[in-house]
Amino acid sequence: MGEPYPHCHLNGALLRLREARISPLDRSFLFGDGVYEVIPVYAGRPFRFPEHCARLARSCGEIRLRDPHSRTEWAALCRELLERNGLAADGKVSPPDCYIYLQVSRGSEYGRNHAPLPDLTPTVFAFCAPWPERDAAVRSRGVACVTAIDPRWQRCDIKSVALLPNVLLRDQAAQAGASEAILLRDGELTEGSSSTVHVVIGGELRTPPDSWRILPGTTRSVVEELLEALGIPHQASAVSAAELRSAEEIWLASATRELDSVTTLDAQPVGRGVPGPLWHRVHAAFQTLKRRLEGQPW
Ligand SMILES: Cc1ncc(COP(=O)(O)O)c(C=O)c1O
Repeated sequence: MGEPYPHCHLNGALLRLREARISPLDRSFLFGDGVYEVIPVYAGRPFRFPEHCARLARSCGEIRLRDPHSRTEWAALCRELLERNGLAADGKVSPPDCYIYLQVSRGSEYGRNHAPLPDLTPTVFAFCAPWPERDAAVRSRGVACVTAIDPRWQRCDIKSVALLPNVLLRDQAAQAGASEAILLRDGELTEGSSSTVHVVIGGELRTPPDSWRILPGTTRSVVEELLEALGIPHQASAVSAAELRSAEEIWLASATRELDSVTTLDAQPVGRGVPGPLWHRVHAAFQTLKRRLEGQPW
């Protein structure tokens, strides 16, 4: 399969993805010992870049891994990667939207040591991929979701590359013909397998508060700012399984989904089974915001 954007960054060098090599002893390969970010890029401009860098630095800190780059260095790396792949805005033409994947692993060492050796050199990898274009009809119809028990560890706030539970949950959803698995722990909503879940109850948007149970979403903070600007009431508070099932609207938010409306949950309609009025307003505001920022500094 051809790569539309064939150049990647690996440990300080720009090279072809096909030629990029890391050691099989890399700890991300052996242990899932690494962290990552996925950054949307609209018309050549990374969206919420400072927030993604801050979360990456936090994830590194939480796993006691030195963030190998300052924000300025990450920005330079991303700029160079976009330019080399013909994805940077040059002022004349708007490049297609894409996303950047960044990964930092603890590095490689000989032997299979659970406790890492000190002073390993982190492996830094980044590549660009086409924006996952979604069918407008699907977007306006909404998506199906299934619920599942959240089987993950007690540090879901770290954006770790160890994603086996998330992978299995998403596969479970796909097997059921659904777009996402919405997770419940101890009878309460946590999040989706790769998304933040927002719920409209009594005209107010509720989102589980940040904690070890969920990833602090960058899209979530965009949604909260838009709700504020639109004067839509919202709060971070626990959502019970019963509240989830009787919600007027359910939304999924993530960097590459943006904002999806969930119109069926476990094959039952959510609200009237069509995207709700609040989703329409916030989704439209999101689209306006991302296009308004094009060409702005990041
Ligand atoms: C488990 C999980 N929760 C939430 C999110 C949403 O985070 P963001 O909005 O920063 O993409 C993601 C994104 O991949 C995720 O994997």
